[in-house]
Amino acid sequence: MMKVDIHNHILWNIDDGPKEISETIEMVKNAVAQGITHVIATPHYKKGILECEFSVILDMVNKVNQLLQNENIPLSISAGMEIQLYRELSEDLVKGNSLFTLNGNNKFVLVELPNSYIPTYTEQVFFEMQLNGFIPILAHPERNMEFIRDPNKLINLVQKGTLVQISARSLLPKHNRKIANFAHQMMKHRIAHLVSSDAHDTNNRPFLLNDVYTSITKKYGKSYTSYLTKNATHVFFGEEFSIHPPIPVKKFLNLF
Ligand SMILES: [Fe+2]
Repeated sequence: MMKVDIHNHILWNIDDGPKEISETIEMVKNAVAQGITHVIATPHYKKGILECEFSVILDMVNKVNQLLQNENIPLSISAGMEIQLYRELSEDLVKGNSLFTLNGNNKFVLVELPNSYIPTYTEQVFFEMQLNGFIPILAHPERNMEFIRDPNKLINLVQKGTLVQISARSLLPKHNRKIANFAHQMMKHRIAHLVSSDAHDTNNRPFLLNDVYTSITKKYGKSYTSYLTKNATHVFFGEEFSIHPPIPVKKFLNLF
């Protein structure tokens, strides 16, 4: 069965992920041990600050895939980006000459917000993206302080077609309590559509996916795990999919 990780920093010397290709290979082994078969590498793209070029990303991905084939390692890497939201994101996606969708499928775009606030143009940019045929996937909204304070701001975006990706480690014990509580609330109310590793290395931020899917199955049932797994596969192939309607959130706010 395919198991896809749609968010990680596995490529070397391009962002805050590994420094050397040897560390990338160690991360690949970690991913395989976590049952992952397909990795979409998503280096950070921060307009004007850290503009990784997708031709460079593609070269790296090809190089790693060659190595993996030579060593018979059962995993394939494809290219993507984690794009920090900026005002002209939708226009740049339409131009298509600097940004990269997940697996280059021209459909799903992994978007990161700042941790401390929600930019005022967020809803507008997500709307423009969807008008142009792109679907925004919000990377780890459980870390955003403004969403934590007012989850309805997240629910509003979800109702307007944004997908939510939670990071695996946010769901594990010992994580920052506020973030973990919020992440679990999102799971409980089926607001999370995707869980992925956001792996950066093999020690502090490893792949963890299998561990987390196992604990999700225990806590929320097997069907939610299989829903999350299938959604990630749909994202890989650039196929739209129907989402689980959120479970009413009447009590949601009382918990904060
Ligand atoms: Fe990330």
